[in-house]
Amino acid sequence: MAQLSFFAAFLAATIIAPAAYAEKTEGASRGLQVIFAHPEIEELSRSLASSRDGTPSIYYLTESSRGRANLDVISPQRWQRMSEGERYDRLVKFYFANTRDRSNRGLRHTACFMGDGGRFLKEFFDPQVRIKFLENDVVGTVSNDTYMVGIQFQAKLPDQAAVDAHFRVLHCQSSGKMGLISEAEEKGANRNPQSVSALPKVKGRLIASVEQEGFQINDEVKGGRGLPRFELKADYEKARPSPEDRPWQGMDIRTEEGARLFADTTAAYFYDGLANQNVNPERNFIAQDSSRYWCHMPWLNQGDSQREGIHGLTKERDLRPSPMYQVAGKGDNDILGSDWGVAFYNSYGCQTLGKIFGSPKSGLVNPPNWSAARFEDGTLAAKILFTTADFPALRGAFEWMANVSQPRQTDREITPVKYIQIDLAVRDSSIKGTKPDSLYWVMTSYYYDREYEAPADSPIRRIKNLPPAFLKMRPIGVQTGFEVADSLIFKGSMTNQPTGRLNGPADNPASSCLSCHGVAGTRIAMSPGIMSNVDFKTQVANRQHLDYSQQVALARRNYETRARNRIELSDRGGRSRNR
Ligand code: HEC
Repeated sequence: MAQLSFFAAFLAATIIAPAAYAEKTEGASRGLQVIFAHPEIEELSRSLASSRDGTPSIYYLTESSRGRANLDVISPQRWQRMSEGERYDRLVKFYFANTRDRSNRGLRHTACFMGDGGRFLKEFFDPQVRIKFLENDVVGTVSNDTYMVGIQFQAKLPDQAAVDAHFRVLHCQSSGKMGLISEAEEKGANRNPQSVSALPKVKGRLIASVEQEGFQINDEVKGGRGLPRFELKADYEKARPSPEDRPWQGMDIRTEEGARLFADTTAAYFYDGLANQNVNPERNFIAQDSSRYWCHMPWLNQGDSQREGIHGLTKERDLRPSPMYQVAGKGDNDILGSDWGVAFYNSYGCQTLGKIFGSPKSGLVNPPNWSAARFEDGTLAAKILFTTADFPALRGAFEWMANVSQPRQTDREITPVKYIQIDLAVRDSSIKGTKPDSLYWVMTSYYYDREYEAPADSPIRRIKNLPPAFLKMRPIGVQTGFEVADSLIFKGSMTNQPTGRLNGPADNPASSCLSCHGVAGTRIAMSPGIMSNVDFKTQVANRQHLDYSQQVALARRNYETRARNRIELSDRGGRSRNR
């Protein structure tokens, strides 16, 4: 059997300068090769490993048919005590738990890691800890924020052709809105390790070329005749910012009246030309069909949460009860459904995306220039959010059919989803009330409320052919900084954050809009995120932040943990053992 070797790639960082981005290989003991962009990254990673989570481990959660969670926590010691075959079996289970298209149908399972991403790879994939059937190098990659690792391996089972496999694993808690394994689940779980029976076969697929990889849609929709097929709009070179794309310019949001006008002006600007495109709801929000310029974020097409193929939705945190949506018989930690969102950027925002990524037409910037993530005045990002949940308060909501999975599942099928929330983020220093300390961002959000009617003088009322459910979206308030006083919650509305910061029903109540978005690109966990203006200043000072864009942060993680082809690996000094 071939020996396993491994290298971890730390793709980093804009700590010094964008030009110094290049990956750098450093030899290490016992045949281990690690790629660091800068020694500082390695240092930082070490100190975080000890301060954040301690020893790394793998969490593998399965749900029994009776809905009981089985949690298998694998420490490095246990991993080392396993046989080579058991380790292969586990590796393949983690692979299935993280790749949607090959999951074991019917089995709800999730795998994630705890601890620091780099340390996790080192301790579990040390070349001396052999794994059965592995033919070639295991390649480990770690995202710059350490929340995501990529694992790439070649397996050869007896009497079968060798397969190349690649998958990504997320940090269990710090990784994203999905909150892979909740604390309650961890406490309540049955801890008997799963019994290892047959050795599963992996059917992997390594994407050979990375050039356009982040710009395709990988989700395969089965059926759905008559439904649109989502196409990524990434012609960033065509973005032409103009004052028309900045209807809120100069507004004053320091009073409730002014803030309401700002919110409705912004939402109306977004809806007009997207929400009213077609009488068929499925044919609305198609960026390509709008006369106004809109674009999407690339590199969100990977893993369990990847963009679905009908409307471009990505999977988000599961919906739980909130002050807005109390559901009879459901407690705070009960899951009501899975949530899915799709975001659009206006011309100002898209111009910045062009600086980061280039574009498929005009040429891609490779690697992307992450330090160009500094959005200009006039930028708007808007995200519409849908849920698979169905309860009385959602009756009458705007509906789509989407190719989605349920909470904790990876298999997708075409399912009705209801529109419950819209999030809007604007960067504009001309707005009175935005603040230099928070880089002039203001966020606002709406949720579906059957009891609400947009007031007669709202700009949203003036949009022709707007589906009526959109008039029932209730504005929550605005947020311009991290302190409680920086959120203005509108009378008659409520927020999903106990101390009064702006937050929507789909969001994690431990955090808030700016608290969570402010950590984008940093190693600070999203929840609770940043709770004071002083803490944010520290982040800005270290220059790693991605200017509040969680989508850029996710795109970056996906890019940095992508599968490498053999040529790319040998270029970078990886130990390839091709025969
Ligand atoms: C706990 C973290 C968290 C909280 C709280 C949160 N978001 Fe987000 N948000 C995310 C993540 C992660 C994404 C990217 C997910 C995706 O698109 O797949 C995102 C995406 C977005 C986008 C798309 C553009 C971008 O910046 O990535 C907007 C706009 C947005 N959120 C606004 C809001 C608003 C407004 C609120 C409060 C009502 C809010 N968010 C609360 C994590 C959060």
